[in-house]
Parts: sequence; C-alpha cells; structure tokens
Amino acid sequence: MCGIIGYFGKRKASEILVDGLRRMEYRGYDSAGVACLHDGVLGVVKNPGKIKGLREKVDASELAPIREAMLGMGHTRWATHGEPNEMNAHPHLDASGHFVMVHNGIIENYKEIKAGLAQHGITCVSDTDSEALVQLIAYCYQGNLEKAVTEALKKVKGTYGILVMTDHEPEKLVAARCGSPIVIGLGKDETLIASDASAIIPHTRDAMYLEDYDMAVITADGVQMFDLQHAPISREVTEMDWDAGAAEKGDYAHFMLKEMFAQPAAIRNAIRGRLDLTMGTALLSGLDLSPRDAAQINRVLVIGCGTSMNAGMVGEYAIEEMAGIPAEVEQAAEFRYRNPIVSPQDLVIAISQSGETADTLAAVREAKHKGAIVAGLCNVVGSTIARETGRGVYLHAGPEIGVASTKAFTCQVAVMLMMALKLARGRRMPRHEGEELCRGIERLPELVEKVLAQSDAIKIVAEKYADKENAFFIGRGYLFPVAMEGALKLKEISYIHAEGYHAAELKHGPIALLQENTPIIALLNNIPGKEKTIGNAEECKARKAPVIAVVSEGDEATAEGFDDRIVVPDCPPCIAAVPTAVALQLLAYHIAAARSCEIDQPRNLAKSVTVE
Ligand code: AGP
Repeated sequence: MCGIIGYFGKRKASEILVDGLRRMEYRGYDSAGVACLHDGVLGVVKNPGKIKGLREKVDASELAPIREAMLGMGHTRWATHGEPNEMNAHPHLDASGHFVMVHNGIIENYKEIKAGLAQHGITCVSDTDSEALVQLIAYCYQGNLEKAVTEALKKVKGTYGILVMTDHEPEKLVAARCGSPIVIGLGKDETLIASDASAIIPHTRDAMYLEDYDMAVITADGVQMFDLQHAPISREVTEMDWDAGAAEKGDYAHFMLKEMFAQPAAIRNAIRGRLDLTMGTALLSGLDLSPRDAAQINRVLVIGCGTSMNAGMVGEYAIEEMAGIPAEVEQAAEFRYRNPIVSPQDLVIAISQSGETADTLAAVREAKHKGAIVAGLCNVVGSTIARETGRGVYLHAGPEIGVASTKAFTCQVAVMLMMALKLARGRRMPRHEGEELCRGIERLPELVEKVLAQSDAIKIVAEKYADKENAFFIGRGYLFPVAMEGALKLKEISYIHAEGYHAAELKHGPIALLQENTPIIALLNNIPGKEKTIGNAEECKARKAPVIAVVSEGDEATAEGFDDRIVVPDCPPCIAAVPTAVALQLLAYHIAAARSCEIDQPRNLAKSVTVE
C-alpha cells in the first residue's frame, strides 16, 4: 500500500522525506514523489519507479523548496487508479498549483467529484482518484486550510490518509485519516507524520495515532487535533514499539531470508510467558476473557486474508479438536459483505500481521456491530485492528518487512494453538494433556531450527524445479492449510502458478491439469490420513507428474518411489504445521532466488493491503 510521510521542523525536509520513503519501500509501490514548501513557494519532484530514481532527481533539483525547505511531504504509490507514471504519481497539485496533497486509500466517488468540479471549469489531469480530492480542497478553500479540508472530506466516500499543504499558509501541514493509518511522531522541535512507524522511528518513538475522522494541524507551535466538526480532540501519546534494526537486511540477501531464519527467536517471543506448564494452559491476558466468559463461548469465527487466513485455518482445526467448540475460518472480505450470522456468544478472532488490512478491519467492525466478542491477533503494536478490537494477542514477532509473510505466519499458528489450549483447558481437556501440548508448543523453535538447518538440501531440490510454471501442493488435516500456505508463498515470490489443494480434491478436477512438468509437493508427514495422501501422490505419479514428498524424520521410506524428498521433524499433527510451513517457505525462497525474482517486493504486491 501507499506510504506517506510528512515533516515540519528545523532540518532539511527533502532529505528526511526521501529517507522515510526508502524505509517504507517494503510496503510495495510503483512510483514516488516529494513536495516541499519554502518561503511561500511549493516545489514538487516525482518519479515513476524506485526511490533511487527519486533521490537522484531530488539531489539534482534546483528548486529552492526542495533544496531549502523544512516543511514537506512524500509518498510512495501502489497504483489503484491509473498506471504508474509521473502524472499519476503523488504528490498531486490542484489546477492553481497552490495546493498539494498525498493520499493513501480510495476515493470511491471520485468520478462524481470530478464531474462536479468540471461544472466549475476545474479539470483533473491525472487518471487518479486522489487528484479529485486535492482539487476539491482547493475549491473549498476560503482562507483556512483545515476548514477547506473538512469541507471537502464531508463530500468524500471512501478511505483516506492524507497530508495537505498550501502556499497560502506556508507554515502549516494538515493530516486527516479515515481507514488508512496515520501516525504522528513528536520529535525535538520537529513533527513527523507517516503511514508506517518505520519512517518515524529513526527520529522519535513518541507517537500519537489518528483515529478515523481525526484531523491534525501541524505548525511551528506543534500539533492540534480536531474532529470533522472542528471540535478539539486529544489522542494519547504512546511509545512506538519498533525495532529499527529489523528494517535492515544485515548479512542476508533478502528480508524474507532474514525473517525465515528469525523464526525460532520470533516464536520464542510469541510464546514467552504465555505457557503455564503447572496448570497445563496458556496465559493470554490480552484476550481479557475470564474463565466464565470463555466457558460461555459457543463458536469461534476466525477472519483474515491470505497467509493470515491460512494460519486461522490451522487454528480452526485446533480449536475444534482440542476445545470441542465449533470453529470456522472465513476470508474477511466475504465475511464483511455477506451479512454473517454472529451472536454475542461468538468469539471472533481477527488475524492480521499488519493490523491494517482493510477487509479484515471492516470485518472486525461488522462483527462488533453484531455484538460478538472480537479479539485481534496482530503483529504491529498500536495498529488499527489491535486498537479497534481492544483485546487480543500481539505476536511480538518483530517487524516483518518481506512482503511474503513468514515469521508472522508461524507465530500466528503458535498463538492460535495457545488460544485453542486456553479454551480447551476451560472445558474438557485434562491438565496432563494441556501440559503435553504446552511442551509441544515450547518445542516449536527447536523444530524450526532443525528445518532451517536443511536450507542447503532444500535448495538442491528447489533448483530442480525452478524452471516449472505450475505446481500443486497437497495435504490433509492440519497440513491442508499448510499446503495452501506453501502454494501462496511460491506463487507470490516466484510467479509460478501454484495452487494448494486438499489431497483428496485433486481427483475431482485439478488432476486434469497434471503433466510431466507439473510438480506435486505432497505433505506426507506422519499424521492421520498419511496413507490416503500417499495414494493421492501415487495417482499423480501415475500421470507422470514429479512428486516432492515431504516426510517425517524416521519415516523417510515413505518418500521411496517419489522423485525428491524433504524431511521434517516428526511431531504431533497440530505442531507439524509450523516446521512443515518453514520447509515450504525455504522451497519457495530458493526457487524464486534461482529465478532471480524480486523476492522482498514481488510485483503488484503490497505488505499491507489497506484498500479493498
Ligand atoms: C502473505 O505472504 C501475503 N503478503 C498476504 O497474503 C498477507 O498475508 C495478507 O495480505 C494479509 O495481511 P495481514 O496479515 O497484514 O492482514
């Protein structure tokens, strides 16, 4: 999603803006730009493509605002309307050239706004929805920028995180948010505004988070906040929890590789202090669920998108198997629009690494509106979903920079297992079984280390299949969501068309696609249903599709007769999801590396999808 940064202080704005945009590159983008305001003059520099190109243009710029200003804004654009070119890149100027704005989100009624402006002789020059808003703000301006912004926003349908300046008021920056995150960093004699903590952390950790329909006016005197009716409001100043070092690759070739190898430590952080071996249960105080509340829960609904949804599916299986509570996982966009049946006895768990995914956030609001108990399972502290659910469990996995989620997934599964344990021990799971599961969860970091130690062996297998254009992942039980996740990893970083299926599903259609160059990654771990999945793999083999058998340590014989094998630790089915997923992460990574793909920022993808 788009990255936004603003600065007002005593240092050279353009340098801080470009560096901030570089720190947000991981979010995914296709163009970038900055606008600065100095001595009542606006200067704008934009670049279709990477930040590197923007930095070169800024360094070469002769514009006084770009060279001198201490007030400005920057933007990395992930195109929603209009191709990634210089005209469509932000910041956008209005027709007069006196107003400039950056925007993250979607203005759904932008066509109506443009049509209304055209009746007053105001024409937009770009293909974007965002330009309509800055033109509308200029049209509403009657001498006070924040008033013009609120007047314009009252006419807007959609989501926004915006920064606005005008040379009519050269000592002011206005920020506003609805649906797209905005955080304000309070530095020493300077204020920073961004869509992502990573851009602010090098300068200050003291921050205020805007809520929907908040507006902030930043001047030399500091920050004033209002609602859209211009009533003053205040927001708590908190300390941002972000490890700036996480935003550096260190000795790793890619953030994804660094984060895969950080999984043992990340999982230790996720489970630290949350397992009670004496009582054989999980301590998840953030859920704010008393034993009585937990005992009243009739159903668990897990909502999420992409990898988070796959982690939720593992949780669904664990909650039903261990706690005996009906559970189901649903794609958040589907949940939010299908008028779901939700009751006050339902526990809705929203899983989101970023805590900003628009569909998941909307699903949270729908579930809250219907009276459910709604908990967030997020990685980014202070994220919108974490704040709006008001209860939940942080992953503590550390910032995840690679667009392809790895450590967040394995930590999400670890936390879902702890949630299942907590619910189960509040019902019929005896203490000794709880203690056994605690020990299984405690072993996760060690199991992941064993898989990571096989990276070179997995790389050899990966390079045999790097030239393929299709692949199927198959699994059963707890490994069915892992097959889905393995396929998602492969497709999003190698661009191979990979699909995950329940092993039994192949013969109901997909098997028609099998050919000699369609590898099957079969999850043949030592879990219930293994024999059936072996049969499904043999059905593929019989049609000349090469089979990579993922087998349990000590059960290597299962791989005989197949083309290649990957060995993972032998462990209980619910635990096996994590080490097996790590093996598939490594397989995807090495295939993508062999294909020289842009692994950390795959084409068309964003780290946090804050638009529908
Ligand atoms: C996973 O590798 C993808 N980057 C994507 O599917 C992601 O999991 C999804 O967009 C949900 O993001 P969230 O966890 O931040 O809500």
